[in-house]
Amino acid sequence: MNYAIRYYSKFGHSEQMAQVVGETLGVKPESVETPLTEDVDILFIGAGLFLAKVNGRVKEFARTLDTKKVKKVVCFGSCALSDSPVPQIRQIFEEQGFNVAVDSFTCRGAMGPWHAGHPDEEDFAALRVFTKKMVEN
Ligand SMILES: Cc1cc2nc3c(=O)[nH]c(=O)nc-3n(C[C@H](O)[C@H](O)[C@H](O)COP(=O)(O)O)c2cc1C
Repeated sequence: MNYAIRYYSKFGHSEQMAQVVGETLGVKPESVETPLTEDVDILFIGAGLFLAKVNGRVKEFARTLDTKKVKKVVCFGSCALSDSPVPQIRQIFEEQGFNVAVDSFTCRGAMGPWHAGHPDEEDFAALRVFTKKMVEN
């Protein structure tokens, strides 16, 4: 199985999460600025929320991809106030015709005093479990 990991991360939370996914799978994560040219079975894609929005770079990245080269997309993300950035990430990829996994991963991501310290070790441990589950299916 071939995997790729991409993230958009303003404060490093999604990047840290992508590192955890990458360590679990033995794959080097890259930001959405790095094009994805190889065929992959699963693309892991992560981002946070800013003023209730996922950054437009995620959509720009999705537009560069070929649905024939990416079999499945798995979404992850973090935020401080809302439920999750995942519904927006999911919509971006589904609108482009990608097969997006039903399962996704969300944890809290600090915003000033809100959820300070997150994502933390417990979040990363849960993300490791989630990642293993995604590649077992
Ligand atoms: C300026 C700013 C705006 C934010 N807006 C929201 C928001 O609207 N809703 C929310 O749940 N979290 C919000 N957050 C929290 C971020 O989504 C959270 O810190 C996330 O972990 C950032 O991920 P990143 O570092 O990978 O970009 C905001 C954070 C900042 C600094």
